[in-house]
Amino acid sequence: MKRQFFNENDINLCDFADLCSQKLSKKNYPFCSNIKKKVVIYNGEQIRSIINTPKSFELKSELHHCLKEGPGVLIIKQAFLQKKTIDKATEIFLGIIKKEKENAIHRGDHFARPGQNERLWNSLQKLCEIDPKTFISYYENPILRFLSEAWLGPFFQITSQVNIVKPGANAQDPHRDYHLGFQENSLVSKFPISSQILSQFLTLQGAIAHTDMGISSGPTIILPFSQQYTLGYMAWRNSKFKDYFKKNAIQIPMKKGDAMFLNPALFHAAGKNSESKDRIANLIQVSSAFGKALESVDRTKITKLIYPILLEKKKRNLLGCKESQTIGASVADGYPFPTNLDLNPPYKDSTPLNMQLLLEKALSENWAVEKFNLTIERAEKQRIP
Ligand SMILES: [Fe+2]
Repeated sequence: MKRQFFNENDINLCDFADLCSQKLSKKNYPFCSNIKKKVVIYNGEQIRSIINTPKSFELKSELHHCLKEGPGVLIIKQAFLQKKTIDKATEIFLGIIKKEKENAIHRGDHFARPGQNERLWNSLQKLCEIDPKTFISYYENPILRFLSEAWLGPFFQITSQVNIVKPGANAQDPHRDYHLGFQENSLVSKFPISSQILSQFLTLQGAIAHTDMGISSGPTIILPFSQQYTLGYMAWRNSKFKDYFKKNAIQIPMKKGDAMFLNPALFHAAGKNSESKDRIANLIQVSSAFGKALESVDRTKITKLIYPILLEKKKRNLLGCKESQTIGASVADGYPFPTNLDLNPPYKDSTPLNMQLLLEKALSENWAVEKFNLTIERAEKQRIP
């Protein structure tokens, strides 16, 4: 019988180095525009032109392969075209961070010392609460939806956090992230290895550049193929693995509007910021419908906030079916479970009605805002025993 449980004594640097020294074969990436230092780079314009065509499943397969069997990381150049929206969002984020500091609720984060960086938790909901129009413009992005579906399938849940790396801030230590990247080795070892491997398929990690990121500003340091090491959740704190990371990890410069997507099991670290300006990224954690998201988001509240704007856009013929589905997928809760099946019986396809379907139905039938709000509140209550 094969072993199913392992501990930190089982990690092996040679096995890890073998995986990380794999070569990348360009023939596996026919849609990419470039490959740099084992990172697959795509042109946002080309991705947008394929999304709604029959080739989209081939592209989805390629992206999934890249994150799983490939290097585990890819960059999409100009994934976000609306620079004004990015700048507006940055301005709002900075305003919230300032306010939170005044109210003394700023607490830094788990991987950096205080003063080295600033972190805004739940930037998704906070942006929507302050400026729903900018929020819609930001999350109406078809690339974000496409990448999320390529890794996780439908009904994913987006959460986001802003990270500002201050001038002079040191590089982070390499690590893996949510879920098991947050647990101590002793706890990780209690999970069977199949659960540890599964963990990577529950989250897609992304970083959207809100500033240009030259190498001296410290863009994310990454070690291609390191996500494939099955014992990696118990290895990233080990000094020999840290040394290997230091010697072999790479960085790719990014421009404002570029997005990096990575397998959450990839060994990575924020780089040293040697410039005199802040390096600002909105970090995206997309959760599978089958997993628990990193942050709790009041999705009923933000869906109610965006509905009047979407309805107005629709009435002025500025909102197509695809756009409303994209924003709905990024914001509203598309997965109806957990629920109370006594109060919320199966509706369609053996599943109860969900918030995303409700949003699409309301928009297609031009429901008044009051009707939509009442219906969504009632639907939310029906989910709770
Ligand atoms: Fe991280």
